Amino acid sequence: MLPVNTKILANPEEVAAQACRIIIAEAEAAIRERQVFRIVLAGGSTPQRTYEMLAGMVQDWRAWEIFWSDERCLPADHPGRNSQLAHEVWLARVAIPAGQIHLIPAEHGAARSAEEYSALIRDKQPFDLVLLGMGEDGHTASLFSANSNPATPVIAVHSSPKPPSERVSLNFQTLRACRKQLVLVTGAGKSPALFAWQQGANLPIAYAVRNDACLLADAQAGRSANIVATVV
Ligand code: 6PG
Repeated sequence: MLPVNTKILANPEEVAAQACRIIIAEAEAAIRERQVFRIVLAGGSTPQRTYEMLAGMVQDWRAWEIFWSDERCLPADHPGRNSQLAHEVWLARVAIPAGQIHLIPAEHGAARSAEEYSALIRDKQPFDLVLLGMGEDGHTASLFSANSNPATPVIAVHSSPKPPSERVSLNFQTLRACRKQLVLVTGAGKSPALFAWQQGANLPIAYAVRNDACLLADAQAGRSANIVATVV
């Protein structure tokens, strides 16, 4: 089943604009209540436009703490790193203190990096917001199978079907240990997985995402799921 708060928007630009509005609202509430906003960023390309929009916002960036859902085991400055995209289009353009941008040290190798990140996030939970994407096979973060994961908060992935094969990922329970989840899915290529998710398939995304999450999809991704389009 899809999350109860699923919205189909006309196009990726509207998905990004709505995602930006939600993130800003969550940030302002968290900062009012706890003086800090801890957000876990999604990898992949879907969130790029949202990150670009966030770069143009006026925010109390000093109160933001940044984490990632997963990282690819590539050199720290490799353009294929999930952290690189967010850095280029957003984080390098706003005044979040460098010590509050918590990269996954995936250049240390999957196993060591998973241990190091598990220790780093131990006292940072519950996260205020976890942002997730979804692959065409229904994976999310770097969780490609819906089971047989060790019970650690962050896991080493050694056989990712999506290159590179070596990755580090927050585990299912860690992605769910947050105040709010926001899932962004756009493009016709995601439509079969979104439909399968709606039909109850055992997909990683279905294990990672809580029923009270907010899912924003564009019309292309939502077309075969026959979800009643709701204009936000
Ligand atoms: C990655 C991401 C991955 C991504 C999905 C969707 O390392 O690629 O963590 O989980 O979110 O594969 O990717 P796109 O947004 O590029 O379609």
